Amino acid sequence: MPYSGGVNASSGILPILSVNKLSISFETGDRESAAVQDLSFEIFPGEIVAVLGESGSGKTTLGTALTGVLPESASIRSGSVRIAGEETTQLDEKSWQPIRGQLVSMIWQEPRIALNPVLRVGTQVEEVVRAHNRWAASKCKETALAALTDVQLDAAKIYSAFPHELSGGQCQRVAIAQAIVCRPQLIIADEPTSALDSTTQAEILDLIAKLREQTQTAFLLITHNPAIVSRLADRVLVMNGGKIVEQGNATAVLSSPSHPYTRALLESRGSLLQATEYRQ
Ligand SMILES: Nc1ncnc2c1ncn2[C@@H]1O[C@H](COP(=O)(O)OP(=O)(O)O)[C@@H](O)[C@H]1O
Ligand SMILES: [Mg+2]
Repeated sequence: MPYSGGVNASSGILPILSVNKLSISFETGDRESAAVQDLSFEIFPGEIVAVLGESGSGKTTLGTALTGVLPESASIRSGSVRIAGEETTQLDEKSWQPIRGQLVSMIWQEPRIALNPVLRVGTQVEEVVRAHNRWAASKCKETALAALTDVQLDAAKIYSAFPHELSGGQCQRVAIAQAIVCRPQLIIADEPTSALDSTTQAEILDLIAKLREQTQTAFLLITHNPAIVSRLADRVLVMNGGKIVEQGNATAVLSSPSHPYTRALLESRGSLLQATEYRQ
């Protein structure tokens, strides 16, 4: 399905992700604190939707809930999450396994932490393939090599490297290869460039844009940086204190924010300047 830019419900296209009144709490000792409150939004195929907010606003908690990896101390209190129409809030780990990696996958901030230091990176990409397919070893390897090529790495060379032999940017590309290798329809990317230097950041953002164009994968792009929203996102959800305070077309929200929190966030980061810098 070609990307049509700002698809909406009236077009008849079904959302790949549908979140309805989602609330998540942490329990610490005998205290319960709400991290995500009453969130509702949708993502359509091929869209890049950003979640923008400062540290502590609930972005990572949302990302982990959407991929079934909420911390032990957190639980979904109410609401619904549907991925490709399937309700996921009640799924146990066994039921998540065929979904995670295959339908929805994730990219985290620290690529080195995501990779196992003692396994060759090719093996780690291949493991994702094997978890979802009963294919011959040669086909698993070919698929892993193709994903490494898709993320613009020298696949044959990188395949047998260990994570410590790679740069941070190369590690993040390997993590992205793991995320795309089973062709999921949705990728949750939590601050995927925050740990990288600015040149590498730009390269990884370009790669995400290219993958969306080529594969029509939808992205939920979690970031504290409005410049990244400006550069990549079609729509943005602005989060503060676990709630969405404003959502809409990314260019419209960044150029004329309607909520005081969004205005303060943009002013405090001097981000309109940065956003211009990043705009292509
Ligand atoms: N493991 C945890 N235990 C208790 N509280 C947590 C935990 N992780 C996050 N929180 C709380 O949940 C809220 C949202 O955090 P988080 O989702 O990490 O925000 P963000 O990713 O936007 O920085 C914060 O108030 C944070 O203190
Ligand atoms: Mg976070």
